[in-house]
Amino acid sequence: MKRIAVIPGDGIGPEVVREALRVLRYLNDTNVLELEFVDFDWGAEKFLRDGVTLPQGALEMLTADFSAILAGAFGDPRVPSNKHAEDILLGMRRGLDLYINLRPVRLLNDRLTPLLNRKTTDIDFVVFRENTEGAYCGAGGFLKQGTADEIALQDEVNTRGGVERIIVAAFEYARANGRKRVTMADKSNVQRFGGDLWQRMFKEVAETYPEITANHQYVDAMTMYMVLDPTQYDVIVTNNLFGDILTDLGAAIQGGLGLAASGNIHPGKVSLFEPVHGSAPPLAGKGIANPIGAILTSAMMLEYLGFQTLSKNIEQAVRAAISANETTRDLGGQLSTEEAGAAIVAHLRNIAEK
Ligand code: NAD
Ligand code: IPM
Ligand code: MN
Repeated sequence: MKRIAVIPGDGIGPEVVREALRVLRYLNDTNVLELEFVDFDWGAEKFLRDGVTLPQGALEMLTADFSAILAGAFGDPRVPSNKHAEDILLGMRRGLDLYINLRPVRLLNDRLTPLLNRKTTDIDFVVFRENTEGAYCGAGGFLKQGTADEIALQDEVNTRGGVERIIVAAFEYARANGRKRVTMADKSNVQRFGGDLWQRMFKEVAETYPEITANHQYVDAMTMYMVLDPTQYDVIVTNNLFGDILTDLGAAIQGGLGLAASGNIHPGKVSLFEPVHGSAPPLAGKGIANPIGAILTSAMMLEYLGFQTLSKNIEQAVRAAISANETTRDLGGQLSTEEAGAAIVAHLRNIAEK
């Protein structure tokens, strides 16, 4: 028995998490899995009602009582400061020291990519996004606020240990998964200090993985190459902010934000799994959000928990539903969020019976 903390969050979060749970509950019901789900109502609604974002003691409780966390999305137009998302999402990433944000970019069906003549074999890489520091450290401040001379300082933190461990994680992943190349993206031609540290650590770590090709691209050029020639990538490693930006582009080339999955991981510790997309306010409450990102996220969670075969089966069921055009409208189908989730469960049943 493994306990999963479920935090549906805001906007389309609850709608897509419901479908991920439909898939996981199906596996529970067929006795191939034994997960217990505990719901938490952390999000904009609770913040607006009680003023509470991440409750006191939440991180200790998650660490002590749970094997993993499954979240939807955080963000609500009624909270323009985004304070609750910062406290809850970044609070868990930082507070649980989830230093790896692992975001696969994989084309599941040729027809999904907006790139001309690209096939599933052309788009298949993973991004290792540093997840605890960089521009997300929350350091900075205002001077002379509100005056014509106002100064806003927004700091970025790069620690030797923080940079080293994400680069090591990327190379270890490459080694364990037969990936041949690790590409590091930075902006060291302008960001002389942080960039310099990334350059040195990358070189140092790369030397200890002689069988893996290590190369570097400036992040601006990488956005161009990701569109023009995504075939060259196996593993990308980069800082927090560049990783955020690159993985929305990665989502687009694999068919859209509705498909992209992610894991916020610290190996051996309680880790957090959430789709790459946000709360998508224009879609919320309409039953049209694509649940695949959340469902593939739950597959990543199962893989992390040691259920490799079940994880692969979910991926296969997703591919089968896409091939049959049993999808939401963002992928050209006509199904609602719920129907798309149910279609994936039906394919999962077929796979299990084979
Ligand atoms: P978003 O990812 O919420 O949505 C951008 C657009 O992508 C949507 O309008 C929609 O067209 C498409 N999209 C996203 N998810 C989809 C899905 N499941 N199915 C179909 N289409 C989908 O990004 P945004 O509009 O920039 O941000 C909205 C809010 O979400 C903001 O408050 C933002 O801060 C927050 N956000 C949260 C997370 C998170 O919790 N991890 C991630 C990104 C954005
Ligand atoms: C993501 C999101 C978050 C981020 C926001 C909501 C804080 O865009 O998970 O990609 O910037 O990391
Ligand atoms: Mn993002």
